Amino acid sequence: MDRSVEDSLVAAAQAVAAHAHAPYSKFAVGAALLGSDGSVYVGCNVENASFGATQCAERSAVGAMVAAGVRELSAVAVFTDTSEPTLPCGICRQVLREFAEDAVVICATPSGRVQHQLSELLPYAFSFEG
Ligand code: THU
Repeated sequence: MDRSVEDSLVAAAQAVAAHAHAPYSKFAVGAALLGSDGSVYVGCNVENASFGATQCAERSAVGAMVAAGVRELSAVAVFTDTSEPTLPCGICRQVLREFAEDAVVICATPSGRVQHQLSELLPYAFSFEG
């Protein structure tokens, strides 16, 4: 994908990570999606005292995209201020897959990036089509 698009997605993910509500894990995550309308949708993790109610950054971003009336994404950037990149958890992979036949997944830290395809991270995804 175009390097400037990639850079702007990573920058958006980094910026929104600062808004994470992560008082329990102290693990702030930011996510930025490129929607099929060309817009960028962002989300951060939102933790809860009832830990199971926690929402991951990727799913927050998907919620923002769907609320804007967009149902297809082509790329996602995930940012964490860690030494190693953070890859989307299993639930988030499935939720991203709901809105992408395939997608570029960029996982970024302040010092580097790794890039994968969603199809590589979630082979044999569940769907009603089988
Ligand atoms: N988290 C995300 O936001 N995305 C992921 O893909 C993995 C985990 C968040 C959830 C929780 O607030 C914190 O990271 C620790 O699990």
